Amino acid sequence: TDLARIRNFSIVAHIDHGKSTLADRLIQETNTVALRDMKEQMLDAMDIERERGITIKANTVRIDWTAADGHEYVLNLIDTPGHVDFAYEVSRSMRAVEGSLLVVDSTQGVEAQTLANVYQAIDADHEIVPVLNKIDLPASEPDRVREQIEDVIGIDASEALLVSAKTGQGITATLQAIVDRLPAPKGDIDAPLKAMLVDSWYDSYLGVIVLVRIIDGRLRKGDRVKFMSNGTVHHVDRIGVFRPPMTEIDELGPGEIGFLTASIKQVRDTRVGDTITHEKRPTDRALPGFKPSQPVVFCGLFPVDAAEFEDLRDAIEKLSLNDASFSSEVETSAALGFGFRCGFLGLLHLEVIRDRLEREYDIDLITTAPSVVYHVHMRDGEMLELHNPADMPDLTHVDHLEEPRIKATILVPDEYLGDVLKLCQDRRGIQMDLTYAGPRAMVVYDLPLNEVVFDFYDRLKSVTKGYASFDYQMIGYREDALVKMSILVNDEPVDALSTMVHRDRAEQRGRAMVEKLKELIPRHMFKIPIQAAIGGRVVARETLSAMRKDVTAKCYGGDATRKKKLLEKQKAGKKKMRQFGKVEIPQSAFISALKMD
Ligand code: GTP
Repeated sequence: TDLARIRNFSIVAHIDHGKSTLADRLIQETNTVALRDMKEQMLDAMDIERERGITIKANTVRIDWTAADGHEYVLNLIDTPGHVDFAYEVSRSMRAVEGSLLVVDSTQGVEAQTLANVYQAIDADHEIVPVLNKIDLPASEPDRVREQIEDVIGIDASEALLVSAKTGQGITATLQAIVDRLPAPKGDIDAPLKAMLVDSWYDSYLGVIVLVRIIDGRLRKGDRVKFMSNGTVHHVDRIGVFRPPMTEIDELGPGEIGFLTASIKQVRDTRVGDTITHEKRPTDRALPGFKPSQPVVFCGLFPVDAAEFEDLRDAIEKLSLNDASFSSEVETSAALGFGFRCGFLGLLHLEVIRDRLEREYDIDLITTAPSVVYHVHMRDGEMLELHNPADMPDLTHVDHLEEPRIKATILVPDEYLGDVLKLCQDRRGIQMDLTYAGPRAMVVYDLPLNEVVFDFYDRLKSVTKGYASFDYQMIGYREDALVKMSILVNDEPVDALSTMVHRDRAEQRGRAMVEKLKELIPRHMFKIPIQAAIGGRVVARETLSAMRKDVTAKCYGGDATRKKKLLEKQKAGKKKMRQFGKVEIPQSAFISALKMD
């Protein structure tokens, strides 16, 4: 295709502002796919994504559209993941296109996530076309939102498009704006092949499917290509585009976006951001900025029923096939037996994987407290990456610890600002900025990731009645006074409950944890001491008193059905318990104990 007739773009939006609906409309409008093939929200392919209303895997679609000048244009839409955990993937997809539609719900306005993504688009030098969506709704305030876009983001919104992705209003104007206002890609068809690996996923029939953007040169079926990050060479057996159904073609040229397959077995062998070139006539320079994505949050996953360990292994292997950023290794815990220590890009990623293991593979799991990766600097100058508090080396050999910090951006209506500042302060935050955008404040905090991975987002939502929006990025490691806190139940340490805490908060944290555990652990026939300890020093203690009577005793008279029900309920509850020495601890305790209310 002639470069001048190609436009590549992505859609940037906050969750629920209508990205998927708009994408569907653009596709529908151009009859790219027959109406009967249109499933609702076609770009969000996976069920779990749809249920949670998030987009995890980048997807793409090629739209052919005849513009006002009578020429046919090829419009390539790359769908980017909508969540902060996938910031690196977003930044790569952004580099693969020249422009973005910035979709803002005109009944709501700019949110923190919109900001984060639009900054990525600006970083990638995108031309940005603002789209005010949902103008069919009575609550729509296009003027206010237009002004807000200019104030908060600092881009010209005077020519923002007024759109209803629901009714179809403004869709033709949007397509025309893509052609008129976004730049055509540049590239040299005669230069050696240089293609960016934008995304990849596993397909059980075709093996790994690789989404590429051609920068220079041409890619043909049958070519032998080299992945520059690891030097592997593959024979290309298919190339094509998504309309959205996969459609094979013979060649992809500069500016084009499409897929290749090359009998690649594992997604791990294909890394987002990598440069693909020809084995014979390679490009001399790889694309800049490639970095393999690194897990930042780790936790242990153990089967409730030890007999399910092998099933869990199989399930984890299957999930890893399609997710290069999810890591796992076998872990043994004195308390929990065999399981896996798994690494994730963030908390949402963790939840998605855990949910899939439980739902798709039907495995009951105990999830240990999520932990970030600490840098342990030893006295001998060595640096260890600590993925699991239980592995904390002996303190006499440790010089100091560093923890990862993030820059968090929070947008919040004025009336809740005080609560948000207090929350951030409680989580050891350092305020970096505070500005106003209309009736809302934008606060920027430097926070330890450790204080955020757990329940920060839930707390933020609850103190602001759901009105705050939040986004973050990693800013690096910093030294702090961190210690390992152990929990002892009935005088036995439960390694899966160990956490890293700041020394100044240890007592407070320890007290909160033992109080929580006291509520979470059911009474037994004997007294159970529950303690939190730093090194050998107990910082908090509670005692769970012994059970006095038979639980069924409160069922007066001979009400046999009630009695039976109660026993059944107990039995069902049992399944979710694990035995620690003489004490049974419910599965839910491992997460709940850490929530700070
Ligand atoms: P994620 O995939 O979670 O990022 O969300 P999204 O931004 O793709 O939002 P989605 O397209 O799923 O739309 C969110 C909700 O808004 C859905 O219930 C849509 O039906 C609705 N919606 C989208 N566009 C419009 C519109 O123009 N008008 C009205 N009234 N509703 C809309």
